[in-house]
Amino acid sequence: MSIKDQNAFWMPFTANRAFKESPRMVESAQGVFLTTPDGRQVVDATAGLWCSNAGHSRTEIADAVSAQLRKLDFTSIFNFGHELGFEYSERLVKYTPDGIDHVFFGNSGSEAVDTALKVAMQYWDVRGQGQKKRFISRQKGYHGVNFGGVAMAGLTPNFKTFGQWLMVDHMRHTLDIERNAFSKGLPTQGVEWADELEELVTFHDASTIAAVIVEPIAGAGGVVLPPEGYLQRLRQICDKHDILLIFDEVITGWGRTGEAFASTEFGVTPDIITSAKGITNAALPLSAVFVSNKIYDTCMEHAKAPVEFFHGYTYSCHPVACAAGMATLDIYEKEGLLTRAKTTGEIGSYWQEGLHSLADLDQVIDVRNYGLMGAVEIRAPKGQAGTIGPKALTTAWEKGVMVRGVGDAICMSPPLIIEKQEIDTIVSVLRDVIPVIAD
Ligand SMILES: Cc1ncc(COP(=O)(O)O)c(C=O)c1O
Repeated sequence: MSIKDQNAFWMPFTANRAFKESPRMVESAQGVFLTTPDGRQVVDATAGLWCSNAGHSRTEIADAVSAQLRKLDFTSIFNFGHELGFEYSERLVKYTPDGIDHVFFGNSGSEAVDTALKVAMQYWDVRGQGQKKRFISRQKGYHGVNFGGVAMAGLTPNFKTFGQWLMVDHMRHTLDIERNAFSKGLPTQGVEWADELEELVTFHDASTIAAVIVEPIAGAGGVVLPPEGYLQRLRQICDKHDILLIFDEVITGWGRTGEAFASTEFGVTPDIITSAKGITNAALPLSAVFVSNKIYDTCMEHAKAPVEFFHGYTYSCHPVACAAGMATLDIYEKEGLLTRAKTTGEIGSYWQEGLHSLADLDQVIDVRNYGLMGAVEIRAPKGQAGTIGPKALTTAWEKGVMVRGVGDAICMSPPLIIEKQEIDTIVSVLRDVIPVIAD
């Protein structure tokens, strides 16, 4: 039966009817390459979806998962424990910034975000300030698809249809092509966008605001970078008004920016960090919420009930996912992957120069990059704004590269193991594709 005739599967975030007419199927994956059913090799310039940082189908992870499945496949984590979960937690918090030494597990980035919002509410509640329930997020932000996350969303389709649940206000995003086009790394203009937070705090009053949540680099919004000094200023404003700061690092975590977390790379320590995807190299679903000692200690000391946080998932700290996570950390450490993306390093700088070499194309109006992430923004033909991304995805796929399209931007985040020749392939395919899709 062809895919066209198989209607049982309702695909997520996909134009189902169009896909079934012209499917893009992946049969296997190894390293940086995907293989299609007809044997074509495609360079995965997205690491799945900001996921497979150590490359696909790693034997070490497969072996660890297989062994764990035979030893302890599952146990309830409510009121029971397994040693691996405690060991893994201790290991994970060695990568987080100083003062963030606790972890709560979920299964997806969306669950991590909703957990983080609840942690913030719990913290204020035990401090006797339960009226602090409002959140401030940002336009172009993406925080997953659960009800908390979509309320934080700054992407119109997510927020408009599903997001009207929590009290939230949105700051402006930091994309400013007019002033910052073709910046290499962080843009220099726009630190003042952070001052909008001060205005929103004045408007709503700090006594009603639980936390500010932002992605250090907005990924799904089109690789939107923070201007120099911007995140520092958000931190200062939060401190001034006693508001928590949450960094959603679901995609910026695990080496994407050249450090384990963007918080470390940018030298700004939030109160809560969300993480998923690269935490297990996406081999199995697992997410984590890293929590500051201040929050954890307060929640423990002032708990109003024996169960300090009435929250958790059946699969929180799933032993098989923990085994995948441990094996992933082994690879990251052994192969030095967490710092390989640094722009001061060989691969990070090659990536930066490769993407920026496309600036000479007439249709390219901006190139943005940091670590091993990047976006090439294309001028859409008149009246066709937002059509370039989907065209880029299909055309690049046909030519042997998997990219992501966001609006009129071609977005990429290759596995951190990528080599120069694969970067060359991506750049040369984009050079062919861009004039075609911008016509
Ligand atoms: C910043 C951010 N937060 C949360 C999520 C949601 O993660 P998941 O799709 O695993 O629920 C994503 C997914 O891309 C993300 O980019």
